[in-house]
Amino acid sequence: AADISDDLTEILVTEEQIQDKLQELAEQVLVDYEGKDLLLVGVLKGAVMVMADFARALPRHIMMDWMAVSSYGTGTRSSGVVQIRKDLDTDLHDKDVLIVEDIIDSGLTLSWLLENFASRGAKSVSVLALLRKPDAMKVHVECRYVGFDIPNDFVVGYGLDYAEKYRNLRDVAVLAPHVYA
Ligand code: PRP
Ligand code: MN
Ligand code: MG
Repeated sequence: AADISDDLTEILVTEEQIQDKLQELAEQVLVDYEGKDLLLVGVLKGAVMVMADFARALPRHIMMDWMAVSSYGTGTRSSGVVQIRKDLDTDLHDKDVLIVEDIIDSGLTLSWLLENFASRGAKSVSVLALLRKPDAMKVHVECRYVGFDIPNDFVVGYGLDYAEKYRNLRDVAVLAPHVYA
């Protein structure tokens, strides 16, 4: 098989920058959630790497749960109509929830999730996203912890896929147009 790097035009965020940023965000979360039970909810599958590294940057008790959602529609990648593929195992009633995401693109997935979680009686729901694309957002999503604002390019790696590939790259990189053209 060809080298993965042939499919990439540039490294946007390095492994080291990601780890430094997660450490910084973890320090903020430690302060903000002091004395509170904290439930981290990872959004499968993209958030797997962020969740694994962010959770381990927190030197305190947390709980972890996972939700798998997929948006569907005609043509558009994220229609905002979201289907639950795997629901939480945890009752959110009276919980302080931090949703952990790899990226906010159009914002439609998170906007739907936030509404869904609010209706389950959570005490608080906040969002941590490693990446955000301000120029791609179609709906406003309140994100308390943002790693990096990035340009509106197709990025892969560190959990982010193109057609289920590239999730295992250690850095976040821009996918070369010849791959999806
Ligand atoms: C990607 C990404 C976010 C969402 C962001 O997930 O991981 O969850 O899209 O896009 P949005 O802001 O436009 O809604 P995807 O639906 O590709 O599933 P995956 O995590 O399994 O790759
Ligand atoms: Mn996702
Ligand atoms: Mg995806």
